[in-house]
Amino acid sequence: MARKRKIDVAVLYNFLGEDEFETLRQGLQGGETELSPEMAEEYDAEAIGDEIATVEEEIQAVEDGISGAGFTARTINIKDDFQILMQALTNPRPDVVFNLVEWFNDDSWLEDRVAALYDLLQIPYTGSPPVALATCQRKDRTKEILQANGVPTPRFMVVTKEPIPRLGGLRYPVIVKPTRADASEGISEDSVVENRQRLVQQVRMILEDYEQPALVEEFIAGRELGVSVLGNDPPRVLPLEEMDFSELPAGYRGIISFESKWDPLNEVYHKSELICPAKVSKSVKKRASEMALRAYQVMGCRDYARIDIRLDRRGRLYVLEVNPNPDLSEAVGFGASARAGGLTFRQTLRHIVRSALKRNHRQGS
Ligand SMILES: Nc1ncnc2c1ncn2[C@@H]1O[C@H](COP(=O)(O)OP(=O)(O)OP(=O)(O)O)[C@@H](O)[C@H]1O
Ligand SMILES: [Mg+2]
Repeated sequence: MARKRKIDVAVLYNFLGEDEFETLRQGLQGGETELSPEMAEEYDAEAIGDEIATVEEEIQAVEDGISGAGFTARTINIKDDFQILMQALTNPRPDVVFNLVEWFNDDSWLEDRVAALYDLLQIPYTGSPPVALATCQRKDRTKEILQANGVPTPRFMVVTKEPIPRLGGLRYPVIVKPTRADASEGISEDSVVENRQRLVQQVRMILEDYEQPALVEEFIAGRELGVSVLGNDPPRVLPLEEMDFSELPAGYRGIISFESKWDPLNEVYHKSELICPAKVSKSVKKRASEMALRAYQVMGCRDYARIDIRLDRRGRLYVLEVNPNPDLSEAVGFGASARAGGLTFRQTLRHIVRSALKRNHRQGS
């Protein structure tokens, strides 16, 4: 009897240029990059170099996981080139795309168009459909949809140009963010402001440096939870995670800033600690899970997503944003929650690939 052909999974991603973490690692390990004197008291440069993972390593881990899950995996970096993308989709045509493409033409705004191309070619693919990818990138639009569906989200206003209006019904402190960035781009301790003068500064910075509207949102002091959701019929909420800020030096607010997410040379990177499963009461767990599930559904997410939630000091929960196709690496966010939920990396990937294969293209979007 002929052996059944394995399902062919094309793992697509888009990466060009230098991997900053690779350069940093080489610098730390080769001694050219030194830690600041304060950092050097507590941390070891080589150990930090060992800890960080490059894009290539993360993609390789996904490829290995998919092979390990029983599929044929071939990884293609589309290098921002439409010809390479089309080749990957037609020659040979994969059974399913594992979609890790987050931008095109150097523009993350085009992320949804790449998924739309898979739809046009009627190739099943993992993750959310174009409409969810596009809406979740627009934080203001996401919040309107959440509000309309009874999912609490901090009160907000959008500023598209000067003059910067009065806060109206909003109360200080507020946080000023780019409406359309992710991965904590444009978010620092300075983003949280207590008065008009600082508000004007921050809004102006977003309008000028990021060339996009500023989202001004009430700042929710309290705890930071991440809720991962897996699958479709029905979706399953994985164990909650918490970003613990208790080790941060005095004076820090406790937010996931750009430095805390991306700068291993800054102590805040090391002092924000992920705890999974989060140590929260049963009631918080239940309410946060229900809220995340509702957010996943009303935003039209598919296969897997991570919902960012804040818990204020009075026990109220608010959805900050919804991340379709979140980072899958094992140590953080979605990966950590899946592991705490009893799923190995391979099982998680298998689940996601199977979810995509179950769809026929007409259900695609
Ligand atoms: N209204 C708020 N109240 C309190 N903290 C907030 C608020 N909005 C944002 N933050 C902090 O800033 C971080 C980043 O904000 P947000 O999740 O909106 O941006 P992002 O860049 O899209 O994040 P991601 O890295 O998840 O893509 C949050 O994780 C949280 O720590
Ligand atoms: Mg976020």
